[in-house]
Amino acid sequence: IHIPYDLEAAQKNGYDTFMQKEMHEQPYVIRETLRGRIEDSIVMPELDGIDLRDYDHVYLIACGTAYHASLYAQYLGREWMDMPITCVPASEFRYGNYPVNAKTLAIFVSQSGETADTLAALKMCLRKGATTLAISNVLDSSLARLADITMYTCAGPEIAVASTKAYTTQLVLLAAMMVKLAQNAGAQVRDVETFIHDLKEIPNVVEAMLEQENVMERYARLLQDQRDAYFIGRQLDYVSVLEGALKLKEISYVHADAYYAGELKHGPIALIDEGTVVIALATQKEVAPKTISNIEETIARGAKVILIKAPGIHSDKIERQIEIPAIHPYLAGIPATILLQLFAFYTAKEKGCNVDQPRNLAKSVTVE
Ligand code: G6P
Repeated sequence: IHIPYDLEAAQKNGYDTFMQKEMHEQPYVIRETLRGRIEDSIVMPELDGIDLRDYDHVYLIACGTAYHASLYAQYLGREWMDMPITCVPASEFRYGNYPVNAKTLAIFVSQSGETADTLAALKMCLRKGATTLAISNVLDSSLARLADITMYTCAGPEIAVASTKAYTTQLVLLAAMMVKLAQNAGAQVRDVETFIHDLKEIPNVVEAMLEQENVMERYARLLQDQRDAYFIGRQLDYVSVLEGALKLKEISYVHADAYYAGELKHGPIALIDEGTVVIALATQKEVAPKTISNIEETIARGAKVILIKAPGIHSDKIERQIEIPAIHPYLAGIPATILLQLFAFYTAKEKGCNVDQPRNLAKSVTVE
């Protein structure tokens, strides 16, 4: 007898694409990444000797999606500590005049640990005597081997070119790491108990978002005949819209731009007319009313808006709204990101694109 056996189908575990399988693995891999690192407080012994007050310059350096994860960490650092943390894409850092010396701490984030620009930036920092910390998803990657301190995300192999589970595991690891670094530096982390409690809850929150798959599938049809999409958000929501726009570009080839909602009126609003699709995030209570009024300005010009919002944020004028669960505002980007991943995925499917292997892109860019 002949038993047909398709290795790739077996690896996809019943899903049609690796991307969909990997999105659905997120609750599990996030739990694995946090395992042992988060009890009542953050347990990260590798960071015990690191006090940011000992350094003149602290950098976060990465490429692509990992750069967006680094922007998130930078935001938390700025909120919790009174010291500058600079986040720079590796391709800029290595050619820019950034001060690096023995009083520099450079943190590198890379799923593969093999990205050429990130590795080159790390080697430069090592040569100049900086302390280096790597966050990688691949055991013994070049980055992991070279850095002074290495921490791993536990996303497992990510096959789809567009990063999903590697990104969200980076977000939770960086969230825990920034609490630890802030506490090491003697800073008071506001609402730290709630933050840690909600961080532990993230796998369940992500699960709940994945159950909204059909809503995002429906919303994705809005882009059926569109070539452009505009993503807007303020504060932490801006990091999520950057990643949402990148995901959409990568796999659906829809031209997607991310803007600070408050910057719309300084140019991009000129592009909004009848039928333009705007994806807006309003999860940060203090600035949400401002974002809502920016959204209403786009509706007045004929935009079709999808709003991803936290509970308690309202606007009657927006037809399509989807709510994330109640969660610490600094963690709201994670459930919002899951919805944006689903949105990009279904847009690409609808357009008949190869979601796992988009044109011109590589999973790991090991040459410049
Ligand atoms: C490529 C991939 C992206 C990834 C980036 C950085 O562009 O297509 O998904 O974010 O490289 O990769 P890294 O392995 O360093 O995280």
